Amino acid sequence: MTIRPNRRTILLATGAAALVAGCGDNGDGSTSTEQTAGTTETADGEELTTTDDIPVGGGKIFKDEQVVVTQPEDGEFKAFSSTCTHQQCTVATVSDGTINCTCHGSRFNITDGSVARPPATRPLPEKEITVEGNSIRLA
Ligand code: FES
Repeated sequence: MTIRPNRRTILLATGAAALVAGCGDNGDGSTSTEQTAGTTETADGEELTTTDDIPVGGGKIFKDEQVVVTQPEDGEFKAFSSTCTHQQCTVATVSDGTINCTCHGSRFNITDGSVARPPATRPLPEKEITVEGNSIRLA
């Protein structure tokens, strides 16, 4: 197969070359590079927290990730959606074995997300996490 360049392919090639030439040139003689040093992302998902950060018999809410991670028993980690199943408030606290929504008082068990106190009627959906060493990642 022979490719015959036409005006369009030549323009595209010229534009691509210009883009490549422009990459990393800050116009002052220096160059820029993208670095990701310090990030802990892997193909398995981003690191959410460490096991040391989750109290035994309690948990921690990660608002940005919309997840609450609990540790019902020493070394047993669970994760649930932090969105209350009643009217979609973000749960506010984890205490005394429950994940608590302060909007209308619903509570969910840290062991399985089931409703411990209405008005919510549905459990918090479980989220998948992986625990590797002391690192907890969203799956
Ligand atoms: S939204 Fe959580 S109790 Fe109503």
